[in-house]
Formats: sequence, C-alpha cells, structure tokens
Amino acid sequence: MSTLVDIAPVDATAVDLLAALHAASFCRPGDERWSAQAFSDVLGMPGSFCLLASAGPDPVGFCACRVAGPESELLSLGVLPRQRRAGTARQLILRSMGRCVEGGAREMYLEVAEDNPTAQLLYRSLGFFQVGRRKGYYLRLDSVKVDALTMRRDLR
Ligand SMILES: CC(C)(COP(=O)(O)OP(=O)(O)OC[C@H]1O[C@@H](n2cnc3c(N)ncnc32)[C@H](O)[C@@H]1OP(=O)(O)O)[C@@H](O)C(=O)NCCC(=O)NCCS
Repeated sequence: MSTLVDIAPVDATAVDLLAALHAASFCRPGDERWSAQAFSDVLGMPGSFCLLASAGPDPVGFCACRVAGPESELLSLGVLPRQRRAGTARQLILRSMGRCVEGGAREMYLEVAEDNPTAQLLYRSLGFFQVGRRKGYYLRLDSVKVDALTMRRDLR
C-alpha cells in the first residue's frame, strides 16, 4: 500500500520540528536522538538538504542527505510509527535520490545499524547493497555499541 504524502524541502527554520520527528521516529529504547542543533549543523553543511513528508497538515517523516561531488549520503531518515508501511520512506528516498542526481551525485551511501532489520529491508528493496561495516559505530544510550553496515547504491 502506498499513501500519497506531500514531500517538500525544509530549511533551518524547521529544525525544532525535525528534532521532534526524529525523537518520535527513533523510539526504540537506547536510540540516539538528533537535537535541533544537530539538524542545524547538518543543514549548515555544504550540499546538504532535508525533505519533509506531510499527510495533509501533519508532518509524518523526514530525510536528510548531503551531496559531495559524485557521492551523496543519506544522513538520517524517520517516519512516525502511525504512518509506517505506507510507502512514505520509499517516497522520501526516491525524491532525495532525484535531488542528489540533480546536484551531480552518481552514487549514494548510507549507514544502518546492524540491529535495524526493518531499515535494512527498506534499503535493500530500493537497490542498496552492503559494501562495508563499521565496528561499534553506534553508541546506544545504554552504552551498548552496535556495528553500522555501510550500504551503497548506484544513482546512474
Ligand atoms: C525504517 C522506516 C524509515 C521505514 O519507513 P516506512 O515509511 O514505514 O517504510 P515504507 O512504507 O516506505 O517501506 C518501503 C519498503 O521497505 C520495507 N519495509 C519497511 N518496513 C518494513 C517492515 N516493518 N517489515 C518488513 N519490511 C519493511 C518493505 O520492503 C517496504 O515495501 P512494502 O511495504 O511494499 O513491502 C521506519 O520504520 C522508521 O522510521 N524507523 C525508525 C527510524 C529508522 O530506523 N530510520 C532508519 C535509520 S538508518
């Protein structure tokens, strides 16, 4: 099932909203949260952008990316629990990939936690493949370290 959501870029004026969406999306015990300052820092990086998904008047998801020459990176992605499995993340990623291509990127990378099979399935369904592993990349709030899988997708 795919629900129509509106997807639009947001700027630094939306950092409080983005932080609230991040906290509500990364809701497993131990999940690290991105603060409004973290989103400010990301949006201040050259080549970065953030897309917001809305269902009617309600913000329901976001995707933050960065383009650096021929490479792009998906930095963070979240969809509210009540909106899940409706194709929102897929739409956010496809739109983000389009913007990255427009910005000159030919490939996209991302990091996903080894203990996040849902996100891995999502990325695999969109053509991403694992190309590496970063040991203990994520430090959970309970101090547990979790490996990150590095995934890549060709954008050409
Ligand atoms: C991962 C996340 C972004 C997925 O968002 P979503 O809007 O529910 O995903 P979509 O509906 O676009 O799913 C697209 C595809 O991904 C896969 N997928 C997504 N959720 C899945 C689940 N719970 N179980 C199995 N496959 C799933 C499926 O292939 C799905 O396609 P299908 O529904 O046609 O079978 C969301 O669960 C989330 O915000 N999780 C917490 C934050 C997070 O993990 N972010 C990613 C960090 S790297």
